[in-house]
Amino acid sequence: MEHPEIISKDPKSFRIKPNLASYDEAAASPQWDSVKSELKWFDGGGINYAYNAIDRHLGTPVESKTALLWEGDRGDTASFTFGDLARLSNQYANFLTGLGVKKGDRVFLFLPRIPVLYCAFLGTLKTGAVAGLLFSAFQETALFDRLENSGASVLFTTTELSSRISKVRDKLPNLKHIVTVNSPDFVSAISRQPDSYACVRTVPDDYAFMLYTSGTTGKPKGVVHAHRGAVQAYLTARWVLDLHPDDIYWCTADPGWVTGIVYGILAPWMLGITMVVHAGRFDPDTWYGLLEKYHVTVWYTAPTAIRMLMAKGTEPLKTRNLSSLRYLASVGEPLNPEAIRWGVKAFGMPFHDTWWQTETGSIMMANYPTLPIKIGSMGKPFPGITAGIIEDDGSAVADGKEGNLAFKPGWPSMMATVWQNQKKYDSYFTAGWYVSGDRAWRDSDGYYWFVGRSDDVIKTSGERVGPFEVESALVEHPEVAEAGVIGKPDQVRGEIIKAFVVLKNPMKFQKPEDSAKLTEELQVFVKKNLAGHAYPREIEFIDRLPKTRSGKIMRRILKAKEMGQPIGDTSTLEEY
Ligand code: PRX
Repeated sequence: MEHPEIISKDPKSFRIKPNLASYDEAAASPQWDSVKSELKWFDGGGINYAYNAIDRHLGTPVESKTALLWEGDRGDTASFTFGDLARLSNQYANFLTGLGVKKGDRVFLFLPRIPVLYCAFLGTLKTGAVAGLLFSAFQETALFDRLENSGASVLFTTTELSSRISKVRDKLPNLKHIVTVNSPDFVSAISRQPDSYACVRTVPDDYAFMLYTSGTTGKPKGVVHAHRGAVQAYLTARWVLDLHPDDIYWCTADPGWVTGIVYGILAPWMLGITMVVHAGRFDPDTWYGLLEKYHVTVWYTAPTAIRMLMAKGTEPLKTRNLSSLRYLASVGEPLNPEAIRWGVKAFGMPFHDTWWQTETGSIMMANYPTLPIKIGSMGKPFPGITAGIIEDDGSAVADGKEGNLAFKPGWPSMMATVWQNQKKYDSYFTAGWYVSGDRAWRDSDGYYWFVGRSDDVIKTSGERVGPFEVESALVEHPEVAEAGVIGKPDQVRGEIIKAFVVLKNPMKFQKPEDSAKLTEELQVFVKKNLAGHAYPREIEFIDRLPKTRSGKIMRRILKAKEMGQPIGDTSTLEEY
């Protein structure tokens, strides 16, 4: 792109002085050590994410400050101070200790966005156990895979969600306790727990939380993060999200995904920021209502949501007073230029794109308050991070040319391991680089531009879905012989999931009404067995799938055919 559209920043227009005064100065000097003194370390160099998010505020003015402004899907509300969260999370830590939970054990949370989730998560981290988060749209297969692989011993859930586990419970011998947080027994048990607790002195490399994430092949893998990530979570929230003490901050991501954990719980609370949480579904009017009602100042959201708001136009904004807003940011999928322009039109300011991944643990690349935005670019590496564009063999790619987006390992929040899968962990590294799996290019000013994935991972509404998981779910259906799944570009959702299905008895479904019925049945089947968000919105029945001679489905050919593009190198393809 020769002449990108640029949004320049006028320092006079800043309502508040940005935390990061000069990107270039910060990028030129080492950063991580300077921030370390602002966090609370235990004697001997230990650190704990939850202690830093909550307990270290005790005895300071932040203790009585509101930490959480919660609103449920029926407009019910609750609010909690940092002191409240300290006491409540201590009760959860004591409860877990009573169950025999020890440092390193896995405690999983399968909960909607209710206040209990936040208390149970923090309580788990305080015990030194590893918290595992499960998105509340997951169904039986997705839950079983994650609980089995992690060997979780405790699961917090609700009576409503617990039925999804009941059928597979017998196959999970390590899962000793299923705690239904809305059962009268639990409510009374937790209220009887002492509200003081001495946080376990975890060390920087001790595991804090884990999230299962999808690649191209196989089941999802458990990406594990250590307490040392606190350093980067803290500094990025300050410099990229520009959080200041008086901000009211809203991160719209669910804690079932990494953004909802790091920037929807830990980082803002480490900075002592008041945060809004909305437990209901996305709805433009509700969202504008929340921004207005809570006087949100900093808003971190995702491109699909922005595009959905955009689709409604600026009319719904006419009756709203959103003058509290001062900073907007976005993550999870490419932020298209129209969405940035629309932000300027609708809110009087641009969305700042940020880039990172479950594996990187914190923001790695961003647009900053003081730097001009080149519309469509992901911005520049966070100060202290070394990024590069490399060939498959690790050699450098010249500016302006596309290659693999990679980083020099060793940033504080880099994943600690892939749960019981050293081979997978090792596979991320080539010639001294962490290779992200994304394709990108860098311009001569050092701005990075996203091109796409180098593998078949699907991003639908910002959620990462592995094609293999969806294919596996489809072939469980008695009528399906084989399935190949791709991400198909979509104006609003970025991509939608499209499945190509080979039937066992295609003759049975010749009539359009029969194949339409089967399509719907397969969609419901995937929703019910895998996850509500991971079903194929489009299904096409075909006679055979393109495969390599060794029998691997060639999704790139399905995709090329779908897009009407040339199918490229077919030398490994069996006759098709
Ligand atoms: O392909 C990139 C895309 O999301 C992937 C990471 O997904 P996940 O692990 O679910 O983490 C999402 C939020 C931290 C990346 O490999 N992605 C993330 N941010 C951007 C993006 N693609 C383009 N632009 C972004 N800003």
